Amino acid sequence: MMGIILLGPPGAGKGTQAKRISAAFSIPQISTGDMLREAVKNGTEMGRLAKTYMDQGGLVPDEVVIGIVRDRLQAPDCGKGFILDGFPRTIPQAEALDRVTAALAKEIRTVLSLEVDEKELMERLCGRRTCTACGAMYHVRFNPPKAEGKCDKCGSSLIQRDDDKEETILARLVNYRKSTEPLIRYYKGTGKIRSVRASGDIDAIYADIVKILQ
Ligand code: AP5
Ligand code: MG
Ligand code: ZN
Repeated sequence: MMGIILLGPPGAGKGTQAKRISAAFSIPQISTGDMLREAVKNGTEMGRLAKTYMDQGGLVPDEVVIGIVRDRLQAPDCGKGFILDGFPRTIPQAEALDRVTAALAKEIRTVLSLEVDEKELMERLCGRRTCTACGAMYHVRFNPPKAEGKCDKCGSSLIQRDDDKEETILARLVNYRKSTEPLIRYYKGTGKIRSVRASGDIDAIYADIVKILQ
């Protein structure tokens, strides 16, 4: 069972690396951020609630995200493993995940802690662009598409995320330090955490991750 958690601040590259791991090891990427944005787009009740927190750079209530992940982990495609991207993000979420995985006879094998200098994060997030159709991610400077504003993979247009505004990014970083960083210590206690230096070349970081996972 290849259960993986990607831990790291906003802009650490969780989504970028999760997509590669998912393709290489044929296990699904479970991004609570992507799932919440989908709910916002679809205008569901949960989406409307989540948006009020996301627009402020705050965390969506634990019971909401725990419910999403509990349901998602029961899907058949999680049989071989899964990559949690952006969950858990609080101690109560980590404790709930322990209970859910035990109940479903699943196991977290590795927690990858992506470490990036704080000053890099703002530039990464301000320059991020995402494909509206396939979700591929780019950066205007660090990972530009071949044609400006168009996805290399599917040709659809690229947009900037609503919460990638400077003031919202600052709030997300504060909340990361307050609520999510304590998880590093939580997982140190399990012996499953491995830190990954996540600055520099995207391919080189991915190669380090593969070495850890193999
Ligand atoms: P979420 O969508 O998870 O956002 P986040 O944690 O803020 O992280 P990001 O997606 O912004 O960054 P990333 O680490 O994925 O980096 P990426 O690969 O894109 O959550 C959004 C919101 O939803 C939260 O604020 C909260 O409100 C809510 N939410 C979600 N989960 C929740 C939970 N569990 N509990 C409560 N609330 C929850 O890379 C960033 C940019 O950098 C890209 O442009 C990329 O191309 C570039 N890049 C990547 N790697 C490199 C590199 N090595 N060098 C240079 N550039 C790079
Ligand atoms: Mg992400
Ligand atoms: Zn695309």
